[in-house]
Amino acid sequence: MASAGAANNDGAGASSLAGASNVGSSGSAGAPSAGTGAGAAATAGNPGGGTENATAGSGGSLTNPSETYPLPDAATLKDEDGSSLWLRYPLVPIPGRLAEYQAAFTTVVSAADTPSINAAEAELVLGLSGLTGKTVQVAPAVTGAGAVVLGTATSAAIKDLPLVARLTPLGPEGYLIEHAEVGGQAVTVVAGNSDVGVLYGAFALLRHLQMHQPVGELALSGSPKIKNRLLNHWDNLDGSVERGYAGKSIWSWASLPGSASSAVLKNYARANASIGINGTVLTNVNANAQALTAASIAKVKAVADVLRPYGIKAYLTARFSAPREIGGLSTADPLDAGVKQWWAAKIDEIYAQVPDFGGFLIKANSEGQPGPQDYNRTHADGANLFADALKGRGIVLWRAFVYSDTSPPDRIKQAYEEFKPLDGKFNANVLVQVKNGPLDFQPREPFHPLFGAMPKTPLALELQITKEYLGEDTHLAYLGPLYEEVLKADTKLNGTGPTVAHIIDGSAQSYAVTAISGVANIGSDTNWTGSHMNQANWYVFGRMAWSQDISAELVANEWVRQTFSNDPMVLTPVVKLMMQSREALVSYMTPLGLAHIMGSDHHYGPGPWINDLSRAEWNPVYYHKADAQGIGFNRTAQGSNAVGQYSTAVGQALGARASVPDELLLFFHHVGWTEKLASSGRTVWEELVYRYSHGVDEVGSMREAWATVKGRVDAKRFKAVDDFLQTQHYEARWWRDACLAYFGDVSKQPLPAGYAPLAKTLAEYKALKSQCPTDVTKPRCTPVYSGSPSPAITP
Ligand code: GCU
Repeated sequence: MASAGAANNDGAGASSLAGASNVGSSGSAGAPSAGTGAGAAATAGNPGGGTENATAGSGGSLTNPSETYPLPDAATLKDEDGSSLWLRYPLVPIPGRLAEYQAAFTTVVSAADTPSINAAEAELVLGLSGLTGKTVQVAPAVTGAGAVVLGTATSAAIKDLPLVARLTPLGPEGYLIEHAEVGGQAVTVVAGNSDVGVLYGAFALLRHLQMHQPVGELALSGSPKIKNRLLNHWDNLDGSVERGYAGKSIWSWASLPGSASSAVLKNYARANASIGINGTVLTNVNANAQALTAASIAKVKAVADVLRPYGIKAYLTARFSAPREIGGLSTADPLDAGVKQWWAAKIDEIYAQVPDFGGFLIKANSEGQPGPQDYNRTHADGANLFADALKGRGIVLWRAFVYSDTSPPDRIKQAYEEFKPLDGKFNANVLVQVKNGPLDFQPREPFHPLFGAMPKTPLALELQITKEYLGEDTHLAYLGPLYEEVLKADTKLNGTGPTVAHIIDGSAQSYAVTAISGVANIGSDTNWTGSHMNQANWYVFGRMAWSQDISAELVANEWVRQTFSNDPMVLTPVVKLMMQSREALVSYMTPLGLAHIMGSDHHYGPGPWINDLSRAEWNPVYYHKADAQGIGFNRTAQGSNAVGQYSTAVGQALGARASVPDELLLFFHHVGWTEKLASSGRTVWEELVYRYSHGVDEVGSMREAWATVKGRVDAKRFKAVDDFLQTQHYEARWWRDACLAYFGDVSKQPLPAGYAPLAKTLAEYKALKSQCPTDVTKPRCTPVYSGSPSPAITP
């Protein structure tokens, strides 16, 4: 029998629509075919896109076979709590490499005394001292070999060096790291076109060294294409975080401005600067007008002051009805002169405190939020109200996630229908911020049809880092492949291209302003992100916001090296399990293009049977449309015609049963239970059983891979990851058994031979509701944590 891997071959064009390409060949769904080292090396040797000369100083393999890593002893394997993220800077354990670094990096020299340069110096001192085991200090001038010279193209030590000619084209945030001769000495120059560029260069050098790369012929450079690279915190003023699974808000809003002096904010800024994030929205998109009072603005100022040296601007969300709620006006009509005046004064008040304030992120007329439509005005009228007042100073990110109060026949069509007619009507400093897919941050969705459809309006891409629908804090799902999938998705407006990446970087449709946002997964937990492995999702968001060409696998490689170990015995299995993790999750939660079938009060467990919520599109049955005949949402021309919102080429490919990729089959088609898939020869029902079961066993293989790193990473973090993988494995089996119990009941199809029986009856799964809490507790659904989840595909 052909494996599901054959899905890769059902038309390269079609499968690139979702960018999905790696659904399960037996035992390795989503995993690259080459070994991790080889795959990463290939990517590293071909940084691509010109936006970054990644870390490939060696130009060769990212694992050096001549370097064997000793099994760490108890002294070097001290327990870690994850609070240092990927900025750990441990002593290099390879004698040859250690000696090389000790000789190459002895002092840090800079003539300037600015906040960003000082931050770069401090980071290099910390990092180089840790990595070399020697005290590396700041020196006033180059006095011997081994100096790291920091500066911009106008710094005295740098301005006459030949490298300046290559630095200038890299733009305001660009950096260059090379060897040069200064004062007759061999030095390493970290040069930027701005002070923040120098800081980015310092972090790039430290990344290179934390990855134990050679420094003989150092030639690193980088510059971002997308100008505004933002985290969006959905943090409430009461300290809670919407869809946050990592504790409370790190701002400690109630204790600001005083709490801004805590180490947490500075470390947050360091971590973001290390991956190139340069903006942060402090407040929830479901906004509170109180965030705009004078007292709140003083808090914003305190946070902004800490972030500024790290090149990070503060942004806020704006509640559209604020003029009424805190301004004493009787209306919030965007065309009302008094309203305009109120916002202009409010924005001036913010700039008086926060001179580099980034602007506003606004959710309006969606899920009950107020907006311009309350006054029969358009989204453009609303956005331009803010844009006028921010002009020359800041930007407006106006969200396209509109989700009305009436039950639509196909919810996913609303954003396109509301926004496409407004193309060209927004002011120059407005971006429309669009989620990666048309539904809502599902494990897999097609790319959003607005990408490419608004050539006169800059679109920003909104990705979710917090895994609301991907197992929340606990499940290990590395999001690099998901981000890569959407960035590479081909709109086929011009036959081939542009991709979503080229839309949002401004190159395809000449946008004057560009942005990308990630909904943060950060909270007050010691490890910042609720689980150690979720740190990788913060990391990869930043790295891909900086460089859309960088591969998910290369980023995983970077992150594992810095966060856990460079030892190939750790690197290879952990990168591999990360790379298979998202596809595994898609398989055990929502295979074949299913979406939104989770429990309604929590989003981590299954609830495909739910059909009693007051609005049709709140119910999973609205999305899967399973009935006695078949399953899936007909969005073809004969159905809701959502495919008509894409370019002709994409719409036709998605709309035809022969060309839609298996990964999106049920997202666009209602298919008979016994209809066979060309790719595997299985019926739709059999394919569902196979994929659900395969997903469970993939988690089993991830657990086995993780078990091999025991003794090579510290015991504390090893156990924490191990425990969560166990929970994930049980919950994957819960998803599989509950969904197959339900779909089996609807379809009246029997479980084929060769698969483990379902652990409970459908009635028992439905009855679990009361025992699986909606709040974030660990463990969270104890009745499903028993037995052996694998093998689900029985030998
Ligand atoms: C999801 C999420 C909400 C959030 C919304 C949004 O629906 O569950 O909590 O407010 O997205 O993006 O606005």
